[in-house]
Amino acid sequence: MRRLFVVAEKVLPSEMATIKLLPHSELCPGGAEFETRADESICEAALREGIKIEHACEMSCACTTCHIIVREGFSELNDASETEEDMLDKAWGLEPNSRLSCQTFPIEGIYTVELPKYTINQVSEDH
Ligand code: FES
Repeated sequence: MRRLFVVAEKVLPSEMATIKLLPHSELCPGGAEFETRADESICEAALREGIKIEHACEMSCACTTCHIIVREGFSELNDASETEEDMLDKAWGLEPNSRLSCQTFPIEGIYTVELPKYTINQVSEDH
């Protein structure tokens, strides 16, 4: 039986990625590290781990509240769609390695991710 698992591990990609979330003063002060499941976005994985990333449009790529900045592993991610690129233009603190976490599906590897200090909702409510 063990041999069967060893063979399966070599044939089938694990499709799990490790997400290292940098500390965020409100959402995860100590940072966090977790794995994604197959076909799971970074936003879904973070929410499953109890990290309350905003997702105002319920992950339909119609807001920017789930904005993240990918500090390591950006080039390994799925490409952003035109719609995602258009939405990102409205994100607070946009950087070249910005993505919408609900549209970001890592396959394998280690990704270091930063949550911006603010979302566009907070900026419009607080300032
Ligand atoms: S939750 Fe709205 S774009 Fe991701």
